[in-house]
Amino acid sequence: MEVIIKDTYEEIGIEAAGIVKKSLARKPNLVLGLATGSTPLSLYGELIRMRSKEGLDFSGVRTFNLDEYVGLKPEHPQSYNFFMRENLFKHINIKEENINIPDGMAENLEEHCRGYEEKISGAGGIDLQVLGIGRDGHIAFNEPGSSLGSRTRIKTLTEETIQDNSRFFTGAEDVPIFAITMGIGTIMESRRVLLLANGEKKADIVARFIEGPITSEVTASVLQMHPDLVVLVDVKAAQKLKRAKYYRWVCENKKKLKTGNPTC
Ligand code: PGA
Repeated sequence: MEVIIKDTYEEIGIEAAGIVKKSLARKPNLVLGLATGSTPLSLYGELIRMRSKEGLDFSGVRTFNLDEYVGLKPEHPQSYNFFMRENLFKHINIKEENINIPDGMAENLEEHCRGYEEKISGAGGIDLQVLGIGRDGHIAFNEPGSSLGSRTRIKTLTEETIQDNSRFFTGAEDVPIFAITMGIGTIMESRRVLLLANGEKKADIVARFIEGPITSEVTASVLQMHPDLVVLVDVKAAQKLKRAKYYRWVCENKKKLKTGNPTC
């Protein structure tokens, strides 16, 4: 695991976009796993800038989004489908047929979830998965207690998540209770995982998931077992990390490495 601490939220986005750009240079038909929420917005903003100023080419990229609310149409302003189009897809040259987002309106949700897993496998698996983290340690909508081997399925959201997400709706009563989400097992199969977190509100959970025990109480903690995990945090989210000094030391020294491909 590499933990990279940046001064600001904007710098997280720039660093993360740099990682996407490098991955794209190595593999133009990259399979990119994408997340919604406030956290990845600085990354998406930077990717949009790279598209318009540097001509970064997304024409071969295939994307898989982590999750979607059950019962919201793609054109609903709070659906994750709508979010992705507004905040990324309509600003870059990605092909419509290469975009994959779970369909919260699918008639047979279970079958749809199975099909989503098959599509990911059919694309050769996810090369780089972008993640945020909830205050309760969830990744995608894998709430505390989720099986660490889970696959794409329907999940019932916790009251805390509903409350957190109600800021995007008129009120908590409008937030759907169910979502389709990739499972922890699905996420763990991604070849590389890039988790982003910013702000003081995430400081506790960032420390717990990186330095605490692996437990389904904090589903993100299983990422400690991932062979290629990069965690990008700002100083506010990093303030409770016991080994923050060491993570900075690692980054400083890795820059001196002549071999390999260190992230920081
Ligand atoms: P946020 O959500 O990026 O809006 O903080 C993260 C999450 O719930 O995964």
